[in-house]
Amino acid sequence: MNRRFLAKLILAFLILILNDFVKFVEPVVLTFIVFVFILYIFYDEINLKKIRIDQLIRQYQQEMNIVNKESSLRTKQLESIISNINFPMVLIDQHAQILLVNDNFLKLNNITEIKQLNENSPLHSELRNFMREAFLKEISNQKTMSIHQQDYSALSIPIYENGRYMGCLYIFQNITYILERERIQKRFIADASHELKTPVSAIKGMIEIINRPNFNDEEILRDFHQQIEIETKRMENIIQDMLTLSRNTAKNVLLNIENFNPYQLINDVIRSQQSNIQQKLLHVENNLSEHLVIEADRDKFYHIFSNLLSNAIKSSTQGTIRFESSMDDRFLSIKIQDEGVGMRASEIPYIFERYYRIDESRSRDTGGSGLGLAIVKTYVNAHQGTIEVNSKVNIGSTFTCNFPIRIVNKA
Ligand SMILES: Nc1ncnc2c1ncn2[C@@H]1O[C@H](COP(=O)(O)OP(=O)(O)OP(=O)(O)O)[C@@H](O)[C@H]1O
Ligand SMILES: [Mg+2]
Repeated sequence: MNRRFLAKLILAFLILILNDFVKFVEPVVLTFIVFVFILYIFYDEINLKKIRIDQLIRQYQQEMNIVNKESSLRTKQLESIISNINFPMVLIDQHAQILLVNDNFLKLNNITEIKQLNENSPLHSELRNFMREAFLKEISNQKTMSIHQQDYSALSIPIYENGRYMGCLYIFQNITYILERERIQKRFIADASHELKTPVSAIKGMIEIINRPNFNDEEILRDFHQQIEIETKRMENIIQDMLTLSRNTAKNVLLNIENFNPYQLINDVIRSQQSNIQQKLLHVENNLSEHLVIEADRDKFYHIFSNLLSNAIKSSTQGTIRFESSMDDRFLSIKIQDEGVGMRASEIPYIFERYYRIDESRSRDTGGSGLGLAIVKTYVNAHQGTIEVNSKVNIGSTFTCNFPIRIVNKA
């Protein structure tokens, strides 16, 4: 028989006898009996509901597990994206707690472990101020800052969800190289216009004189032709040197390393300047070891010693120019010694600066632009080498280049 039907029968029976029953039984006991009956009547439904609630809880737990798995997968994906991105990055939540951070950001702040960030975080002060301001104002901001001698472009991106501020993402891009290139370009344009102005105005002046209606002096014409040729050659050299310098700083010179014999290289350098050597009746000696073979960039070596020889020739009116070499386990030193005009000790520190010429008038006569030694230093440094100068006025100069390079053959 249906349990609910049976219960109703009992309840009806109870109500019928209630009046008499109350007389014998205490009301508390009666209430208890009624409660037990009600429980009995609804037991099935309660049980059913409990089973349903259990099922719902299980379902909810399963869904939560899926959501948790998905969210931890997404966090892992985000973490791996952020850690693989080359820029320092950090993501903080609306309570200024760090959610995600990559190693590059830690390195930028000289931090080894993430936990140091949440302690008394030793962030770089300018970076910290930038982060704090962007976080408090909830703004997208961009600022260039210098951290450990490097230039960074800092970017803040506030994050909103359904209009609610959820935190801020910060990205720092190292722009040192870009700014350096900009500086080089600006300097190149300024240097080029400054350096080319002099020969251009000289040529312009001569052409104006030649173009005068009654000009017919053959001798001056010949002289002007010669000077125009010299000035043009000078401009060509300046442009060539400036292009070399604008492309190359010691950091970005690309070396093309090969095996070569420096004795032969110096012979080639001397041969290329033979006419200037003979004109001045100078004597040039190549005292390098004939069978020496080294590993270095041949073209850059050629440029270095060609510049140094041209300086030695320009500074000498007589005497001998000598190339010598010496070496130990790690270094090859090649020096060039002249018996020319020499330099005062106070001038030596400046000669490697661009456009520095000790005697402007003499250097102009010799056609120099003051870029040669700047290029020499760039190329020596690109080989991790150093260059030393010893000089005495009216006695002569010695330039010594020391290269920590591999010597393939000493014999
Ligand atoms: N061997 C040397 N003896 C004396 N002075 C020198 C010697 N080498 C260089 N100098 C001085 O250093 C200056 C700078 O040399 P650098 O080679 O840079 O320029 P430059 O020879 O004048 O021009 P460029 O090499 O660009 O044609 C020279 O103008 C000269 O005054
Ligand atoms: Mg020079």
